[in-house]
Amino acid sequence: MSAFNFNDWDTPAPRTPSSAPAGAAPTSAAATTTTAATTAATAAAPEPRPGLDANAARNPAMLAPEARPGALAPVRVSDKRIVNGQGDINQLAPFKYPWAWEFFLNANKNHWTPLEISMAQDVHDYHHRLTPAERHVFENVLSYLTTSDILAMRNIGLAVMEKMTAPELQIYQARQVYEEALHTWTYQHCIESLGLDQQEIYNRYRVVPEIHGKIALANRRLERVMRADFDLGNRDNLHEFALSYLFFAAIFEGCWFYNGFSPIFALQRRGLMKGTAEQLQYIMRDEVLHCAFGIRAVRTLIAEEELELDPQAVSLLWQEAEAAEAAYSGYLLREPMLGYSAAQHMGQFRYIANRRARQLGLAEPFPGAENVLPWLDEQANLRKEKNFFETRVTEYQTGGALAWE
Ligand SMILES: [Fe+2]
Ligand SMILES: [Fe+2]
Repeated sequence: MSAFNFNDWDTPAPRTPSSAPAGAAPTSAAATTTTAATTAATAAAPEPRPGLDANAARNPAMLAPEARPGALAPVRVSDKRIVNGQGDINQLAPFKYPWAWEFFLNANKNHWTPLEISMAQDVHDYHHRLTPAERHVFENVLSYLTTSDILAMRNIGLAVMEKMTAPELQIYQARQVYEEALHTWTYQHCIESLGLDQQEIYNRYRVVPEIHGKIALANRRLERVMRADFDLGNRDNLHEFALSYLFFAAIFEGCWFYNGFSPIFALQRRGLMKGTAEQLQYIMRDEVLHCAFGIRAVRTLIAEEELELDPQAVSLLWQEAEAAEAAYSGYLLREPMLGYSAAQHMGQFRYIANRRARQLGLAEPFPGAENVLPWLDEQANLRKEKNFFETRVTEYQTGGALAWE
């Protein structure tokens, strides 16, 4: 049984130097596992000197590599960095970031496919129970998500993973790339199951400016760092990369996905579109990890590179994200649904944004924002959804082993 805490959104990550990275929220529990303890001990061990460490006594081949033609020096923990490292990118251990490996192990405990969840009741709900205003909300949420998860997949693969220089980070991100693709499949499965017009749904983000605004902002924030020739040896570029990754993990994934799902969870609370909502609850499990991993990676990067984030640049990130979300929610909820309005949506956005800022060790961007949808964390994270696994077509062997509190 995993002791991993998927629901620990609120524990601020400790301020840590790169030499002893301790946990962003969800990893603190995981770091107590045997594997983590072992790897952490490895990371904390004194640096071996090439050719002269204890292994050399057991393995004469490691003695004085410079004396053996063609021999390379062993990789040391100190060679590894988040970016700009000198270690061999194809060599997993010794670990410098054992928490990243723990993320990979835990990610593999949440595995499902959208085919396992029945959508039959949703077909009936969509055609016979949703009001026109609720259908408008439902379709536009799906429309935004379809595009944003492809953007997420490309970003983590092309802009982030490609630039990491420690394999334990890249391995988790490789899993994340797959999960983003799985999320896209999930939306497509919902769209197909409900018989929605794919041409229309997939193009909606292009023809609705309020949806396009969020995608355009993300593209602008991520476009430059996605380039393969983006030189991280340049300090200004390094600062831009840290800000972009921060935007992606804390805002795009940590706020916009979280907020993006909540209108569907509001329908689910009223017994509507429960299949779709259940699909999104599985996605939410992945996104909890994506957000936490990204925040931890960014914090470690900032400490390691001794970066000082420009407060004005950070403030602008939050302001732009809030403005884009306000326009989106104004369009989405031009007519409020029963129990869910644009004002509540934005209140929740600001409340979650503060949570992300605390996890980053930054000042809250929206002081005083209140938890206007207190049911959301619970609804999203299935704390009391006793029938959750019973609704699945098949029981997945590892899915039931997840601990949520
Ligand atoms: Fe995703
Ligand atoms: Fe994600």
